[in-house]
Amino acid sequence: MTKTETLTLVTGANRGMGFEMTKELAEKGQHVIIGARTAEKGEAAAKKLTDKGLNVDFVQLDVTDPQSVTDAAQTLKKHYGQLSILINNAGAAFDGRKAPSTVDAKLLHADFDVNYFGLIDVTQKMLPLLKQAPTAKIINMSSMMGSKTEALNPDSDVYHAVAVGYQSAKAAANMYTVQLAKEFKNAQLPITVNAVDPGMVATEFGGATPEMAKSFGAQPVEFGVARVVELATDATNQDTATFSNTHGPVAW
Ligand SMILES: NC(=O)c1ccc[n+]([C@@H]2O[C@H](COP(=O)([O-])OP(=O)(O)OC[C@H]3O[C@@H](n4cnc5c(N)ncnc54)[C@H](OP(=O)(O)O)[C@@H]3O)[C@@H](O)[C@H]2O)c1
Repeated sequence: MTKTETLTLVTGANRGMGFEMTKELAEKGQHVIIGARTAEKGEAAAKKLTDKGLNVDFVQLDVTDPQSVTDAAQTLKKHYGQLSILINNAGAAFDGRKAPSTVDAKLLHADFDVNYFGLIDVTQKMLPLLKQAPTAKIINMSSMMGSKTEALNPDSDVYHAVAVGYQSAKAAANMYTVQLAKEFKNAQLPITVNAVDPGMVATEFGGATPEMAKSFGAQPVEFGVARVVELATDATNQDTATFSNTHGPVAW
């Protein structure tokens, strides 16, 4: 890589919004690494984009497997020596529509393993590389589903949603975003940390098909990644400790 190149790692980038943001950021000149837990899927996704002449590579990365995360960080260190942007996009929901009073604790653990502990493990292990970049960004793919304000607002779609493990894990990741951003700011480290809500987006999330999701009013992936792309390409890199979507700030 050249010294002026922006190197970006996107977790869960073999499909859905991760793939779309990889494509858009590479089209804007960034060198993007697709993190995917399956080599076959990750390599196929990278090939679709390199065939278009885009600067994209693949690294095996299962955010719930500590050894996989360690190995991915080692691979990036060996090949590039630094990282400009980490986009913690990998996510999954295991407890949709389960009653909070009876939901199986195993499902709650699975929600937290991916959306909270996985995000933190990747962040901590990529941090030495982010510190090597002149300025760096961590962008956490959150969700309005993690907003307690929206969960209590009868006019919000979130009011009627129940996935307490997924929602709690996203809310917890929001708090991690705030605390990490404050730590870096207090230490005068040039690394910003922000959370983004993509809106309801037509992907295969939760076992749906994009067509099925669209019939329920979900937006296209281009809409879902717009705020992430905006933050990832913001040359000022001033915003930190924010939670936002394409319309502006989202209530925590
Ligand atoms: N779609 C929405 O309406 C919506 C709304 C709010 C927030 N979000 C958030 O947006 C992010 C992207 O979701 P999406 O809609 O694009 O969903 P998606 O199409 O289901 O994609 C999820 C991605 O995460 C990957 N992933 C899952 N578990 C992983 C693990 N343990 N390690 C590494 N990668 C893993 C998946 O890989 P595999 O292909 O191997 O499963 C896939 O690449 C998620 O964080 C989600 O919570 C989505």
